[in-house]
Formats: sequence, C-alpha cells, structure tokens
Amino acid sequence: MARRDPHSYTDLDQGEVTHLNLDVLVDFEHHCLAGTATLTLKSPVSGPIDLDTRDLTIDRIATADDQEVAWTLAPTESFMGAKLTVELPPGTDRFSIHYRTAREASALQWLEPAQTAGKTHPYLFSQCQPIHARSMVPIQDSPRVRFGYDARITVPAPLTAVMSAAPGDRRAAPKPDQAVFQFSMPQPIPAYLLALAVGNLEARELGPRSRVYAEPEMIESAAWEFADVDKMLLAAEELFSPYRWERFDFLVMPPSFPYGGMENPRLTFLTPTLLAGDRSLVNVLAHELAHSWTGNLVTNATMNDFWLNEGFTVWAERRILERLADEEAVALASAIGYNGLLGEIERFGEDSPLTHLKTDLSGQDPDEVYSVVPYEKGYLFVALLEQTVGRERFAQFIRDYIERFGFTSITTEEFEAFVEQNLPGTLQKVGAEQWIRAPGIPSNSPRFESSALNQTQTLAADWSTGARPEAAVAQKWSPELWQIYLQGLPKQIAVEDCALLDETFHLSGSKNAEILSCWLKIAAASAYEPTFDRIDKFLGSMGRMKFVKPLFKTLQGGATTQALARRIFAKYADSYHPIARKGLEQILGL
Ligand code: BES
Ligand code: ZN
Repeated sequence: MARRDPHSYTDLDQGEVTHLNLDVLVDFEHHCLAGTATLTLKSPVSGPIDLDTRDLTIDRIATADDQEVAWTLAPTESFMGAKLTVELPPGTDRFSIHYRTAREASALQWLEPAQTAGKTHPYLFSQCQPIHARSMVPIQDSPRVRFGYDARITVPAPLTAVMSAAPGDRRAAPKPDQAVFQFSMPQPIPAYLLALAVGNLEARELGPRSRVYAEPEMIESAAWEFADVDKMLLAAEELFSPYRWERFDFLVMPPSFPYGGMENPRLTFLTPTLLAGDRSLVNVLAHELAHSWTGNLVTNATMNDFWLNEGFTVWAERRILERLADEEAVALASAIGYNGLLGEIERFGEDSPLTHLKTDLSGQDPDEVYSVVPYEKGYLFVALLEQTVGRERFAQFIRDYIERFGFTSITTEEFEAFVEQNLPGTLQKVGAEQWIRAPGIPSNSPRFESSALNQTQTLAADWSTGARPEAAVAQKWSPELWQIYLQGLPKQIAVEDCALLDETFHLSGSKNAEILSCWLKIAAASAYEPTFDRIDKFLGSMGRMKFVKPLFKTLQGGATTQALARRIFAKYADSYHPIARKGLEQILGL
C-alpha cells in the first residue's frame, strides 16, 4: 500500500486518475449536484481502487461498456470523509460513478437570492482547497494526482456557469428552462483546483488574456479596481516564465466567500472586500496570479508541504509588486505580513510545531490549523535564499525550479535536494534545517526597512508613552502605513483615545477592509461602544475568515462584548460559509 498523503485515501499503486468527465445538474431546489463522474485511469487496472468522498450518495458504478461494478463505502472518518472502494474488473481504464452531493457538502455554498448583490437569483460556488473536492465529486483528492477535465453543467436558464477551465459555451438544454455549459480543462490539475460557480454573472474584458466576471451590480467597480491585471501578467511572465494556462480570468465572488482569493486555474476567485475603490488591495490578485507558477505548476505534495505553495507565492507576489510599484511598497507589505506572523506565533505558542515550515498534519484537519505561518515564514525563508545567492542567480534558480517541476507535485525534501544540486552549500549557509524543521523565526531572518515604515512603527510603539499621530501627517498616510500603524498600537486602548482616533481619522468610515478590520479589533478589545453598530454591520457584510474570525475572537475575549459576539453570530450564522461557520462556532464555544 502506498498511501503517502495523510489527508487522502489515494493509493497510487492501485491506479491513477488522469481525466475526469463530469456531467451534473445543478439543482437549486434541493441544493445538490446530481449526475455522473467518469474517471479515466493512466493504465488499465484490476481490483480495488480507493477514492475520496464526503457526504456523497452513490447510486451506481459501471464500466465503459456499462457493466455494473461492485463498490463499498466505508463509514465517515471525521475530516477525511468516507473511503469509496471500487472493485474494478481486469483491464478497466475508465468507469462512471452515478452520484449526488449532500445539502451540507463542505465544498459548496448555496446562496439564496437575498445573499447576492442582485437579490433576484440564487448563486452557487465551490471552494475545494484543501480537501473539499471530495464532497463535490468522488476523486483521488490528493495534490499528487493531476487530471484534465471536461464538464457538462446543467443550470437554470437565466444563470451562467463558470469553472476553472476554458470559458464554457452555453448550449441548448433538454428542457427550455435550463441551459447547459460545456467546459474543457486541458491542463492537468490536482483536485483542490476544481472550481465551479453558478449565478447571474456578467463579464468585462480587461486585456487580451483576461476578463473579470461578477454580478452585474458589481461589474463596473470590479473592472475598475483590477484594470491593471494585464500589466501584472506581463510582469509575472518576465519574472518567472511564459504563462502556461492561456487565459487568466477571475470572478469577484459574493461577500460570503471565505477567503481573500483562491487560485483556481484560469478562473481565480476573489472576495468583494478587495473593492476598496482605490486599487489599494490588488496585491491579492497578484498573489493568486503568482500561484499560476508557484502552486498550480509546482504543487505541494501534501498539506505538510503547504509552505512550498504559499511561501513561494507570497515571495512571487512581492516581486510582482516591486515591478508595478517599488521597493518601498515591498517593505511595507513585508512588514504587514511580519506583524501577522508574530501574531500567529503568539497564538500557537513559540515552540509549536505548527510554526515549522514542514509540518506533520496527520490526524489534523488542515482547515483547523490554517495560518499565515507557511505564507510569511515561508516568504522570509525564500527571501533569505535569494539574498544569500544574489538576485540574479536566484532569478535563474526560480526559472529552473518551475521548468523542472512544472505540472508536478513535490515534497519539501525534493525541494531541498533541488536547491542543493543547483545552489550547492546554500541550505547549510542559511541554516535551512532551523527554518524548515524548527519553530519560530530564526535570527538570520531578512529585514525590510524604509524610513516611512520605521517612523510609523516607532510612533505606534511610543503610544504608551504618549505619542500620538499628527493629524496633518497621518491624513496623508497610505492605506499600508495605516495598517502598520494600527497593527503597532496596543491591542487595547482607552475609550477616550478610541474616540479621538475615530473622530480625527474617520477609521470607522474606511472603505479599506484591512484598515477597518485592524481598527474594529482595537475598538472591540477596548469595548468602545460607539463602534458596536459598525462592528455588527462589518460582520454582517461579508464572511471572509481573515476578518470575521479575529474580530469575533476579540469580542468573545471581552467580558462586556461576549454577549454582543453571540448576538451578532446568531444574526448572521446562516449567511456564513460552512467552513467559516464551523470556525466561528469553535471560537464562540458553541
Ligand atoms: N490558496 C489560498 C487560499 C486557501 C488556502 C484556501 C488554503 C483554502 C486552504 C490563496 O491563494 C490565498 O493564499 N489567499 C489569501 C490571500 C493572500 C494575498 C495571502 C487569502 O485568502 O487571504
Ligand atoms: Zn495563496
């Protein structure tokens, strides 16, 4: 038995899926996908093959010549789901599973019309990373396995379906009130990059290879916010290598989307909280674009190597940022990230193995241990390697790395072997072992400096000795400096000071969700009542976990705000994504 991924029942000795043919009806009435998944294997096999499923109802399994095949569905084992064992007759290289998804499928969120911008049509979207694809389709749900796919998606006629594939074409359906969308994804992807969204969608062309999709009510502002996407794409190609996915389209999601962005190939998903109106949050788009190389071409073998995906992508995102803006912008972004990393180390504890780059998550639900450690500690490590060998050599190294491992999945150990081969002695020199297999931030971590950064950090650090920002100066701060300033303040301040800050700088009125989130956390910890309505409104306006989780945690932590946390959660629980809701219930002890 060769089961190498602690989060999947995949055993590659039994066979390997190389293609998926999906034919499903999107049933908004019953909140389910129902239809057939046809799996093609690399070579003909015989005997059992284990697939991942979660909460799926299996109706029938048959070979290509429609011979019924025996199967067993094991009991559900918490976050792993239920192992589906299919007994394949000799010489099988293709079989079809007739199935339907459950109402509570963890990959899917079904929105009522009231939860959308337009308020008239329902909406469905998927989020498969890290291990939710199995609740949408029976599959080898391990990033070791890559497959291309074709999909035929039947939806209610007024709606549009989009996928992480070539743009679908709308076809006539068997019934007049339905439409069929046919997709094809020629590039092989791991299951976690499968993605589907169905809603009332409009599109705007933004460049020769890019268009944005959104509900009509949001499309104008989305097109404006992300107008520079083609510049990003060109910068990234210069840095890394030609773009291998043909198109880079993206979809601005309904507010309950639980992440900032998701790098679904050929169709990135983005939270609408990026629509600040001043293009100040477009780094998230750069990040998801960067995954087109680091993550989607070179993929982590398991969630234990997740830092390879995210650490490299944060580094790549900041290289793109440097091209589009300047070094100062990179220093500020790195400082914001570093503050987040310190917070996470405090949350997990200084010695926690969850602060290693290489983790051992066997027996653990990856959603429960999600943190910025792989992102920001990973970034620091990649930046250190770059600093150590020099910009030019590292630029070549990255190209070689992408060329060598493109369209494969690798472990941290394979990465280390490649570094040793191409940049001999470097691992030793930077103390890679300490970075990869020990907790915390090693003392040789790179530092990022800029005078504006230093001044702002000092001003914040001096808060407790009476330093306050001068109105005329702070009014000119960029959104990044505001974030750095607010991150640097004590977690809790006097209510008079809350009043002063908010009255002078109108923080509660900020359109930048990052600033708002930092500010409302301080206001909540300080039990500053005049912001309670704003906090309620913010928590009801979106479900991005990066914002809702820390704010609920802060409310929950204060004697006077705990009841407020419960009240607000009760009000909005139904509108949060199932993954976010689960996390919040844990925070609130429900
Ligand atoms: N791939 C991640 C999102 C993700 C990770 C979803 C793990 C589920 C499990 C995506 O690329 C990401 O990192 N998004 C960040 C934005 C980024 C700028 C750090 C986010 O959602 O905040
Ligand atoms: Zn990412």
